Amino acid sequence: MSINFEGKVAIVTGAGNGLGRSHAMELAARGAKVVVNDFGGSVDGQQSGSNSPAEQVVEEIKALGGEAVANPASVTDVAAVQQMVNDTVERWGRIDILINNAGILRDKTFTKVSLEDFAAVVDVHLNGSIICSKAVWDQMISQNYGRIVMTTSAAGLYGNFGQSNYAAAKLGAVGLMNALRLEGRKYNVKVNTIAPMAFSRMTKDLMAPGVADSCKPELVSSAVVFLCSEDAPTGEIISAGAGAYTRVQYIEADAVYLGPETTADDVSSAWEKISDMSNAKVVTDVGASMKNVLSKLPRKK
Ligand SMILES: NC(=O)c1ccc[n+]([C@@H]2O[C@H](COP(=O)([O-])OP(=O)(O)OC[C@H]3O[C@@H](n4cnc5c(N)ncnc54)[C@H](O)[C@@H]3O)[C@@H](O)[C@H]2O)c1
Repeated sequence: MSINFEGKVAIVTGAGNGLGRSHAMELAARGAKVVVNDFGGSVDGQQSGSNSPAEQVVEEIKALGGEAVANPASVTDVAAVQQMVNDTVERWGRIDILINNAGILRDKTFTKVSLEDFAAVVDVHLNGSIICSKAVWDQMISQNYGRIVMTTSAAGLYGNFGQSNYAAAKLGAVGLMNALRLEGRKYNVKVNTIAPMAFSRMTKDLMAPGVADSCKPELVSSAVVFLCSEDAPTGEIISAGAGAYTRVQYIEADAVYLGPETTADDVSSAWEKISDMSNAKVVTDVGASMKNVLSKLPRKK
């Protein structure tokens, strides 16, 4: 094993089940001391939780010779998350890795979803990622070392019927990464995102048995653990499932300049040209996006 986390401390949220459990086990197997966070609720987050799934994972890690501690905080509880972070620093002296993995689902069409169900999903996936990242941020900056992994979803990147709450929250996590990767760079704090596909209690009703067998959470953890490693890139999204891995990026079509008095009718007439992706380029920052637009303006004489 060349990727090694000896001396490193990790927090994995939602690590009592599925993907989080697998990430925590793999980090521990490679030498990290791991905080196994999980509030222990149902998939929709409604049934109140217990610490038992997290404790069970801790027992599994210890049985394999690893070091871990359970934590029952909800990622939406600012004070409890801060307490988890304080306790971790007190116990192990540092925090090197945060994997924002905790998640719930309340799928309904936008017509049927209540604002309460919308807010609950945004709260866990997006606010939870913000709260946990903020709680570890100063520690990582002061150490000049940190690795944060956000968890998005194809539903967030591309949208999915009946998942407006989840899609909004999951793309929000990508937005958070995009800003934090810039603010963390100088301090060797690298921030990346995983878009997983894995069999878990969350997806068990969605996957055909043949597909489920190949979608082992451990195969997603291989990408996540790489993103937590010394040599991780920053600001990347890896889509991972069933042993296949791909990089996800934004592309922009070559901008089309229509003049200083462009009307809606002009945009309509030019839509075919504007939407032509044949010369599209990958854009990774605001500067490149602005350049694509501003470089098309006629030069002043
Ligand atoms: N499984 C997939 O194919 C898939 C696809 C795309 C994205 N994801 C994302 O991956 C993550 C893990 O999903 P999973 O499939 O392992 O689901 P899972 O239900 O097996 O695990 C999620 C865990 O998060 C915990 N959790 C929920 N709310 C919490 C809170 N407020 N505080 C602390 N813990 C909380 C749950 O108790 C549970 O143990 C989620 O963010 C999910 O949206 C999964």
